[in-house]
Amino acid sequence: MLEIKNLSVSYGMIEAVKNVNITINDNEICSLIGANGAGKTTIMHTISGLLSPTSGEILLDGENLLKMSSEEIVKRGIIQVPEGRRIFQKMSVNENILLGAYQRKNIEDEEYDYIYSLFPILKERSKQLAGTLSGGEQQMLAMARALVGKPKIMLLDEPSMGLAPLLVKNIFDIIKTINEKGTTIFLVEQNANMALAIASHAYVMETGKIALEGTGKELAESEKVQKLYLGG
Ligand SMILES: Nc1ncnc2c1ncn2[C@@H]1O[C@H](COP(=O)(O)OP(=O)(O)OP(=O)(O)O)[C@@H](O)[C@H]1O
Ligand SMILES: [Mg+2]
Repeated sequence: MLEIKNLSVSYGMIEAVKNVNITINDNEICSLIGANGAGKTTIMHTISGLLSPTSGEILLDGENLLKMSSEEIVKRGIIQVPEGRRIFQKMSVNENILLGAYQRKNIEDEEYDYIYSLFPILKERSKQLAGTLSGGEQQMLAMARALVGKPKIMLLDEPSMGLAPLLVKNIFDIIKTINEKGTTIFLVEQNANMALAIASHAYVMETGKIALEGTGKELAESEKVQKLYLGG
């Protein structure tokens, strides 16, 4: 279980995250939705150890992550797929995947089988330069690279960004499968519709604060969410 308690994060004078509480239970899909600039990515980066909070705690099964380097956090199984994918453009698809396993010597055949079962296109494209992949393929590559790190908790920052509707559905189906195989998912999304549909538990963030919390279904049915995020 990952617990974010009374978390506040600032950039200089700007307080981007204000006293936020979020609990991510083992084996669930927990979604965080909110408009541009709400503070979603800031929370993800703080979990990953890339930003330090001004106050609050982040506990993984009771252990404080805030004292750890981002490398130690990765070793504990918390792996982020960053917004905008951040793949290495000039390296091949396979080289990018290998980078996700940098803490080990090699990737087992079964792991390749698992990744290619989720993302068959990456097998076809394994020798192609990553920068020449389509946006959707780059998202798949970023997820594949995270998966070879054997995440206990996968942090996904706007995986559907810039993708055509059909591909969005495909990516969300894959996220569900990854979760069913035993990986906890923390999903940050602007696509509230899809993010709430697959979430067991979700949060709505507004200007740095948690405005609403509930099951995915409760939030999808909430009048406020429908009006502000679902165009209802
Ligand atoms: N490096 C930075 N320096 C100063 N302010 C920042 C920095 N990064 C983010 N912010 C500000 O913090 C706030 C939260 O940003 P954040 O990236 O967490 O939002 P977000 O919810 O992920 O938005 P989006 O949906 O657009 O990705 C915004 O007002 C943003 O301008
Ligand atoms: Mg963001």
